[in-house]
Amino acid sequence: MIFCESSSVEDTHAIAGAVASLVRPRDIIVLAGEMGAGKTAFTLGFARALGVSENDHVSSPTFTLVHSYTSGKIPLLHADLYRLQTMAEVADLGLREQADLGAVALVEWGDVAHDVFGEVLTVELAHDDDNDDVRHITISVEGHAWDSRWERLKESVRSWRGHS
Ligand SMILES: Nc1ncnc2c1ncn2[C@@H]1O[C@H](COP(=O)(O)OP(=O)(O)OP(=O)(O)O)[C@@H](O)[C@H]1O
Ligand SMILES: [Mg+2]
Repeated sequence: MIFCESSSVEDTHAIAGAVASLVRPRDIIVLAGEMGAGKTAFTLGFARALGVSENDHVSSPTFTLVHSYTSGKIPLLHADLYRLQTMAEVADLGLREQADLGAVALVEWGDVAHDVFGEVLTVELAHDDDNDDVRHITISVEGHAWDSRWERLKESVRSWRGHS
């Protein structure tokens, strides 16, 4: 696991950008954390780092469930599972299938559906108890998809790494 501390939205954007610099087609990144933790903020920073056009307004896909951005260097899917009730609904979104066709997917509240996605990188964001602008960000992985990138990932987020 990699532990980071973000002191501002800009830090969260930059951490997301560092992850985006190592992303590959077929990666699914699960964004976990309570409301307002910064999952959408992370996605915005990630999208910009991938080169998604400033003209594409990156916003929470709460009602549409999945947004798709094709103006960056890899097609990006952004999903929010908050409103879904069942694993069948999650599976019906076809995120794993679409990722396997060459996209990268960021999935807010995706931690409820690990079984549907297979190997994922999980980014968990948590509020700080004392400071409203601080977020504790934990990056972890299941499977081997990130093995060859793990050291580079650590290196790319070194400015924000905490100790816990
Ligand atoms: N260090 C930080 N990182 C990210 N967001 C921060 C930080 N400090 C303050 N914020 C604020 O926290 C809020 C995060 O909102 P965001 O929509 O990204 O959360 P979310 O996890 O997507 O919530 P939801 O579950 O409702 O979708 C924003 O208003 C942002 O300005
Ligand atoms: Mg959100």
